Amino acid sequence: MFKIGNIEIKNKVVLAPMAGVTSFGYRKFMSQFGLGYVVTEMISDMGLIYGNKETLSYLKFENSGLTTCVQLFGSDPTNMAKAVKIAESLNPNIAFFDVNMGCPVNKVTKTGAGSALMNNPKLCGEIVKAIKEVTDKPITVKIRLGVDSKHITFKEVIKEVSLAGASLVAIHPRTTKEMYGGLPHWDLVKNLRDEMDIPLLVSGNLFTVEDSIKAMEITHADGVMLARGAMGNPTLIKNLNHYFNNEEMEITSLLEQEKYCEGLIKDLIDEKGEDIALRVARGIVTKFFDGFPNSKKLKARLSSELNKFEDYKRIISDYNKENLIE
Ligand SMILES: Cc1cc2nc3c(=O)[nH]c(=O)nc-3n(C[C@H](O)[C@H](O)[C@H](O)COP(=O)(O)O)c2cc1C
Repeated sequence: MFKIGNIEIKNKVVLAPMAGVTSFGYRKFMSQFGLGYVVTEMISDMGLIYGNKETLSYLKFENSGLTTCVQLFGSDPTNMAKAVKIAESLNPNIAFFDVNMGCPVNKVTKTGAGSALMNNPKLCGEIVKAIKEVTDKPITVKIRLGVDSKHITFKEVIKEVSLAGASLVAIHPRTTKEMYGGLPHWDLVKNLRDEMDIPLLVSGNLFTVEDSIKAMEITHADGVMLARGAMGNPTLIKNLNHYFNNEEMEITSLLEQEKYCEGLIKDLIDEKGEDIALRVARGIVTKFFDGFPNSKKLKARLSSELNKFEDYKRIISDYNKENLIE
C-alpha cells in the first residue's frame, strides 16, 4: 500500500494520536477493525528525560501484532534525540517515531513545541535530522497549515523535514489559531501529494467514508488518519476498508454498538485496571450512542455513573428495556 522507510503499511486507514484517548487498550480495540498503524498519545521529550512516571507509562505497550508509532513532542533537537534513545531502550515494540508539529494547546506551544514549530521550518528539519542520527527507525511528522492564516508554512516544513529524512507527513489542514473549529482548508492542500517525495496522510473532520475519500481525492494522499470520526464509530474503519476493497458497506445495529462499546471497556480494563479504565471510558463511550433513539439519558448516565464494568451492563440493560431493544 505505502511504505514508511522500510516498513510496509498494508492499510490506508490509520489511527490518529489523541491525548487522553489513544492508550494501548484503545489502540488494541480499534485495530481489530483494520488499521495500517496506530499512534500513541503524544509523549513529552522532557518527561522521558526526567523519568516522569506518568510519561513513562505511555511507553508501556505490547506488540499485539500492531504497528505502533510513538509520538513525541518537544522543541529542542538534542532533547528529542535523547528522548528517542530512552524510548527505544524501554520498549522494543516501537515501529517508528512521529514528531508532533500540530498540537495547538497553549501548554505545549508556549514551550515552542507542537504547532509552534510550524513557525520555524528549519528547526523542524533539525529535529528530524537529530533523531535520525540516533535511530535507524523511520521518523514521521504530523503538521498543521501554519500558526495562523498569515503564516501558512506547511510547504516549507514539508520541504525541510523531507530533506532531513522524514518518511511520511500527516497534515491536519487547519491553523493553530483555528484549533478544531470551522472546516479544514482542503483547498489549500489540493494535489499536495504530487509535490512530495514521501507518503502523505490527511486528518481533519473525517467523520464519514465520503469525507475521507474526498480528502484523499483532493490531496492525492496515501491514506487517512482518523481521530474523532472513529471514536465510538469503528464501523467507519471497516467501511473504509470495504470501500478500498470494493466490498459492500455495513450498517451497525444498536446491539452491535453496545457490544463494541463493551469490548472497548474490557480492553481499557485489561490495560488500566477497572477504576481508572472506567473513569477514562466515561469521556469516550458516550460517542458509541450518538444518534441512538432516546440516547440523552443513556449518555448522561454513562458519563456520570460508570465506575465498574457491571455499571455498564446495568445502564445498557435499563436502556434496552426502556426502549424495547432486544
Ligand atoms: C482529544 C484530542 C486529542 C488529540 N491529541 C493529539 C495528540 O496527542 N497528537 C497529535 O498529533 N494530534 C492530536 N489530536 C489531533 C488529532 O490527531 C487529529 O489530527 C484532529 O483531531 C483532526 O481530526 P478529526 O477532526 O478527525 O478529529 C488530538 C485531537 C483530539 C480531539
